[in-house]
Amino acid sequence: MQLTKKIGVFASGEGSNLQAIIDAEIRGELTGKVSVVVSDNPDAYALKRAKDSGIKDVVLDSKKFISRDEYDQALLKILNEENIDLVVLAGFMRILSRIMVTAYAGRIMNIHPSLLPSFPGKEGIKKALEHGVKITGCTVHFVDEELDNGPIIIQEAIPIFQEDTEETLRERVQAAEHRNYPRAIDLFCRDLLKVEGRRCFIYGPEE
Ligand code: GRF
Repeated sequence: MQLTKKIGVFASGEGSNLQAIIDAEIRGELTGKVSVVVSDNPDAYALKRAKDSGIKDVVLDSKKFISRDEYDQALLKILNEENIDLVVLAGFMRILSRIMVTAYAGRIMNIHPSLLPSFPGKEGIKKALEHGVKITGCTVHFVDEELDNGPIIIQEAIPIFQEDTEETLRERVQAAEHRNYPRAIDLFCRDLLKVEGRRCFIYGPEE
């Protein structure tokens, strides 16, 4: 019998993806368990969402650390204390160091609001709209040492309409994020993902 995987979510802001993950867990659609939420921002709304759901929340204020490595050592300490199996980045506005990425190789996921490798970095929705592409979307991927670069787990395409503004497009992209992130996490927790080179294969009854 597979033990329930423990999930640590890192979030800096609103935490709508965190909420979607918590809601999926409550509905019984997530095999894993969100055990800790860590934020670099003491004012992150994500922290309130964690508290409201009875999940341990920790603030690691970046201003109190002298280097990225020192910060990530503190992150690793929390993950080890909580026996975390999977790290989920949900709007975490920091780039992880090699220390963190190596320690959790193949066990860190991120969600990005575009169809990677298009429009990496900040403001993926704005960049897609301004570039004039007709289709954008969201990408769940494993994290490696390069920004928004690791093996892609799932993507969902979202059409861009002529009347779209950044706000209307954001609404649809985020709705897609909230559908896809819990699903990707559940696949990981059920050991249904296998990475070979850059490709991530999904082995499950629904594939
Ligand atoms: C999401 O759009 C995600 O793609 C990006 O940051 C945003 C976080 O939103 N990485 P939220 O904090 O989950 O609401």
